[in-house]
Formats: sequence, C-alpha cells, structure tokens
Amino acid sequence: MNFTRNIIITGGAGFIGSHVVRLFVNKYPEYRIINLDKLTYAGNLANLKDVENKENYVFAKADICDFETVKGLIAKYNVDGIIHLAAESHVDRSIKDPFTFARTNVIGTLTLLQAAKEYWESLPEGYENKRFYHISTDEVYGALELTNPEGIESPFTTKASSEHHHAYGTKFFTEETKYNPHSPYSASKASSDHFVRAFHDTYGMPTIVTNCSNNYGPYQFPEKLIPLFINNIRHKKPLPVYGKGENVRDWLYVEDHARAIDLIFHKGKIADTYNIGGFNEWKNIDIIKVVIRTVDRLLERKEEEDMNLITYVTDRKGHDMRYAIDSRKLQRELGWEPSLQFEEGIEKTVRWYLDNQEWMDNVTSGDYMKYYENMYGKA
Ligand code: NAD
Ligand code: TYD
Repeated sequence: MNFTRNIIITGGAGFIGSHVVRLFVNKYPEYRIINLDKLTYAGNLANLKDVENKENYVFAKADICDFETVKGLIAKYNVDGIIHLAAESHVDRSIKDPFTFARTNVIGTLTLLQAAKEYWESLPEGYENKRFYHISTDEVYGALELTNPEGIESPFTTKASSEHHHAYGTKFFTEETKYNPHSPYSASKASSDHFVRAFHDTYGMPTIVTNCSNNYGPYQFPEKLIPLFINNIRHKKPLPVYGKGENVRDWLYVEDHARAIDLIFHKGKIADTYNIGGFNEWKNIDIIKVVIRTVDRLLERKEEEDMNLITYVTDRKGHDMRYAIDSRKLQRELGWEPSLQFEEGIEKTVRWYLDNQEWMDNVTSGDYMKYYENMYGKA
C-alpha cells in the first residue's frame, strides 16, 4: 500500500503515546504510523493490542539515544513527520536518578533532531512538508503561588472544568511565561524544548512545541497519583499523600490531549508553541477524595469507607505548589476544546482500571517486561 505520510511517534507504548498512536492509526488509514519505543518499565505494548495488527501500524523497538538506528528508521520509512513523546516522565524517579532523565530527555531529543535534520537535508525537497512536533509539559514554567488556598471562581472555563470551576491563584502559565524548572524532570524537559527551538532557529527545521498540564485516563503507569491511588484503594492499601495534600494540579483527560496533538500536528503554526489544558485545577487532597468516593461507589462499598486509607507522608523534595495552564491561545487560534467534563473523565478512568485488573496486575508485577524482553530483548 502507498501511504500518503510516514510518521514516527516516539514513546508510543507509554501512557499518552499509546492514545496518540491509537487515534492516528484509526483515524488516518492512509498514514503509516511507526511507533518507536525502547520499552522501558513505562512502555507496554499491551497498551496497543487493539491496533497492533493494523496494516498502517509498525512497531520499532529502539532507543532515541541510538543515532544510527534512529536515522536508519527515519530513512527506511522515508519519514516526513515526527511526534516525539518518548521520555522519562516521573518526577520522583528524576529526584533519585537525574542522569537517566538528562540522557533520555535531553540527549535523546537532540539525537532525534539531528537524525531528522541529516535525513531531511539530504532530500531534494529538504524541509518542505516535514514536521518535528515535540510534546512537553507545563512543569517547565516552574510553580505558581497558592494565593487563594480556598479557591476562587476561575475567570476561565471549558467543558473539562469540573463543576466547581476553581482557581487557586490569579496567575496562569501562558506561552510567554519564562521557563523556571525546579525538578530534574522539568529541567530536562525544558532543556529539550530549547534544543527543539534551536533547531528551528539555526537550521530552519519545521518544529512545534506544546506544553500540556497533568493527564489522567486509562493506561497510565501506576506510579502516578491517580492510577496508583485507584489500585491502592482497591487493595485497601495506604494512600501516601505528600505534605499536606495542598498542591494544585490542572487535570486533562488523556484523549483530549491526543485530540489536541492531532489538531496541532496538522494545523499548528511552524515554530510556534501552544499550551494545552482545560482550566481544571484541583488540590491533591480534593481529587483524592473524589477518587475514593468513585472507587467505593463502583465497588459498592460503604460510602467513604476508604477515606481512612489517606496517609500523610513526607513531602516530595522541591514539590511545585501549583500548576495552572492558560490554553486560550489554542482555543482561539485552532478552535480546540476539551470534550469531556472532569467528573465524567474520572468515572471513566476509575471504571477502566477496575475493569482491567489484569493489565494492572501485569504492570505491577513486571510480567509484561519479561514477556517483551523474550520477544525484543532487554530495554
Ligand atoms: P510514560 O512514562 O508513560 O511513557 C514514556 C514512553 O517512552 C514509554 O513507552 C517508554 O518506553 C518510552 N521511552 C522512554 N525512554 C525511551 C528511550 N530512551 N527511547 C525510546 N523510548 C523511550 O510517559 P507519558 O506520561 O505518556 O508522557 C509522554 C510525554 O508527554 C513525555 O514527553 C512527557 O514529558 C509528556 N507529558 C506528560 C504529561 C503527563 O501528565 N503524563 C503531561 C504533559 C506532558
Ligand atoms: P504525579 O502524578 O507524580 O504528577 P506530577 O508530579 O507530574 O504533577 O503527582 C501529582 C501530584 O500528586 C503531585 O503534587 C504529587 C502528588 N502525589 C502524592 O501526593 N502522592 C503520591 O504517591 C504521588 C505519586 C503523587
């Protein structure tokens, strides 16, 4: 079959990447989608079982730091688009092991940029109709103050905003906010964003960067707050709340992020930046209570019986207080809107984890890693 486009999606076996791969494979049968992933602990091909046999899907096990392999894949498939999600993504791991984050997030991104540059510059048409799209995070902007700890009515609202429309401060991260990362994770992502922009400014590579808020939904590795807590509640295990549970995060359903990526990949302005978020701020302790109530209701347990699992533990080092994304540019310029209201999204998410206990058991036992190691070798 002749494909109209050949697109590498890196990190496609991870949480957000698997939703992006699924969306592209199903929506664009005329595109060939190459999922380039190293299959670290966070990568799991079981996340893509429903698309793995599609004609327009290819899996390539590779490390984004391996220049020759990456360049070889770009050339082999005559790749014209790269959507780059592969990364080390967990803040707590970055505090323990910052070098791995510098390697994958900084050197890996640079390797991918250089490989694409060399291949695209070798073609007669050069950068024409090419695109390098880098997926980043709101954490590069640093932390906002909690100027309204009890919450105020947010001046902005979207379909995703929960019923209470709260904001916990008056400032938001815009595309103009100065970078000020605090954790080794966000420092490595900030550095990778700078390299992507440098490749546009220096070589004219058609790049684009987006910075999104916290995602939630199916297939998220259960080291992150929401899936970890759903699983712990199910098994009546303590819920480790860092500090006082007062930190604020801005939550977006993962499929809404994937839809934004699709739109921006096709319609976004070259060299531009878009913030992605649904104006949906929650204090950790409040979101945790919503998750507990939802799990208890769906498991038909006594109302609030699992509130006593909440256990306050030592705070994360350098814990950013508040993230809140201003996504009005994306709404205004490209017409993107989140499709799911937060209460619906949480219900869907909790239900998915409860219905997919086998997936959870596999990733928590590490069994899926052994299975794929036999198939593809060690990560
Ligand atoms: P994840 O940890 O679930 O998945 C990361 C994927 O990258 C895994 O499949 C892993 O195997 C792969 N990978 C890691 N190192 C690799 C390497 N060296 N070579 C090739 N593949 C490698 O991450 P996620 O939560 O899906 O995040 C995806 C991207 O989105 C990241 O760049 C992250 O910074 C960004 N982001 C995440 C969030 C969030 O809330 N999760 C929010 C905003 C932005
Ligand atoms: P996390 O899901 O790790 O995302 P991020 O650090 O990228 O925002 O954490 C979300 C929030 O929940 C963050 O403020 C840290 C907090 N948290 C806990 O209180 N306990 C936990 O066990 C985890 C994993 C996170």
